[in-house]
Amino acid sequence: MDQPLSEHTRNILGLQLPTDPRWVNLAEIQLEEILTDHAYCEQKAATTCITLIQKNPEKDLLVQELSPLVTEEWGHFRMVLAELKKRSLPLGRQRKDVYVNSLLEFQKKGGGPDDRFIDQMLIMALIEARSCERFKRLSEGLNDNYMRKFYRKFMESEAGHYTLFINLAEHYIDKKIVRARWAEWLTYEKKLMNSAEVRGDRIH
Ligand SMILES: [Fe+2]
Ligand SMILES: [Fe+2]
Repeated sequence: MDQPLSEHTRNILGLQLPTDPRWVNLAEIQLEEILTDHAYCEQKAATTCITLIQKNPEKDLLVQELSPLVTEEWGHFRMVLAELKKRSLPLGRQRKDVYVNSLLEFQKKGGGPDDRFIDQMLIMALIEARSCERFKRLSEGLNDNYMRKFYRKFMESEAGHYTLFINLAEHYIDKKIVRARWAEWLTYEKKLMNSAEVRGDRIH
């Protein structure tokens, strides 16, 4: 489980701990649960982008970059919704997002607006990177050829998102400060993944 990622994957995602290989097998048996959880991941990505635009109207580049991302993430939500419909499954209720809640706990407390902004960008970057890695696992590990292709499309779409958020952080804040904080986030996320229960009914 503690096996390091290949250099290539690390370069793409920055993540320090690969997903436990057992996860994809568990996910395969509970694919309906995965689809519901996945739909809400996409909804939350779209919603968060809208909120970030509302809270940072003076940041022109952010507004320009995140506006189309809202459309893209919402398109992802609709793709998953269509997949549920095809299987005559309801959307279902949103589940407690343990992963994201644990990430939020690492946000700097008592910092200034810049500290809050960096953390907001880097949390989004991490969620995008980990989601992309999970989609990659599904696209390689599922037995169903159709679903492998389905998740390959998501993996490709999400691959550029994590760098988008890091680039935005670096556009507004000193690069060195962003890089140092990103390193702290990666270490924290690795610990989180290491201690998290492996469950096949969640994307994270
Ligand atoms: Fe997405
Ligand atoms: Fe995304």
